[in-house]
Amino acid sequence: MNKISLTRYLVEQQRDHGQIPAQLRLLLEVVARACKSISQAVNKGALGGVLGTAGSENVQGEVQKKLDIIANEVLIEANEWGGHLAAMASEEMDGIYVVPNRYPQGEYLLLFDPLDGSSNIDVNVSIGTIFSVLKKPEGGSAVEEKDFLQAGHKQVAAGYCIYGPQTTLVLTVGKGVAMFTLDREQGSFVLTQENVQIPPDTQEFAINMSNMRHWDEPVRRYIDECLQGKQGPRGKDFNMRWIASMVADVHRILTRGGLFMYPWDKREPNKAGKLRLMYEANPMSWLVEQAGGAATNARQRILDLQPSQLHERVSVVLGSRHEVERVTAYHAQQ
Ligand code: AHG
Ligand code: MN
Ligand code: MN
Repeated sequence: MNKISLTRYLVEQQRDHGQIPAQLRLLLEVVARACKSISQAVNKGALGGVLGTAGSENVQGEVQKKLDIIANEVLIEANEWGGHLAAMASEEMDGIYVVPNRYPQGEYLLLFDPLDGSSNIDVNVSIGTIFSVLKKPEGGSAVEEKDFLQAGHKQVAAGYCIYGPQTTLVLTVGKGVAMFTLDREQGSFVLTQENVQIPPDTQEFAINMSNMRHWDEPVRRYIDECLQGKQGPRGKDFNMRWIASMVADVHRILTRGGLFMYPWDKREPNKAGKLRLMYEANPMSWLVEQAGGAATNARQRILDLQPSQLHERVSVVLGSRHEVERVTAYHAQQ
């Protein structure tokens, strides 16, 4: 079989389908290279001295792990000099990172969650990197934070790389979802699945059940009906999974369907949710939609939300279309 590398896939997307300009292709190649390097660090684990906390906090008040910081640095160093980017934004940085003057500035903006699922690093469970690419709005001179505040439907590329039993890069440029598995001997990502499809129905849900007492009524109703199984209103048994790495939960949903929820709850009513809109929910929602699934904040399509802050949080319901529609409908009836 003739293997298709990520490089070839991107060249063909550029040449044959006119889907991506050369600068965007370069950007995606660089992100993939950075992910390869993060994957190496993850694989070394204790041998590489990369486990444990760094002793600092990020802008959201979360304790940073060594790998959160390493992954952030790898992504910045890989991307700042290529001339394809104007600026970057990350979960681990308070403000935007403008490409330094000594390098040429490009027209793209890159956002990332350098290391998703930090609580799983030290216990050797799948983690990942999530990324989203936007175009810098035309006009305007110096790039500013407000240039990043674009709705998710404006993304020009989005994806994640999961560091699990295999390292897999999952990508959309708006023409479906493709998966590339890292071939460690060759050092390249190889296309292993194209046209990924999420089945519209499922019997599997993912939610952190320990928050049940804080849930809003419609979430309670949905999960309660699932738990009643064959005898309940749904007339079928449901299975549950919660990995606590969004990348791993979404990867399972892209592979075999399912529903993922991290909804708003009553713990901190003023907080829209736990997950971040711009570098977690938006890229994942676009991937899920591109695979035939759906993604809402329990009321509206996530990709239509107008962000007002870089680190804005959002309630997330995504995955198999009919289940997302059901949860969203329950909220509308509230
Ligand atoms: P991060 O490690 O980037 O802060 O993200 C963790 C997120 C997400 O990956 C996961 O779905 C969720 O937090 C898990 O939260 P709980 O620990 O509350 O279950
Ligand atoms: Mn995350
Ligand atoms: Mn993170």
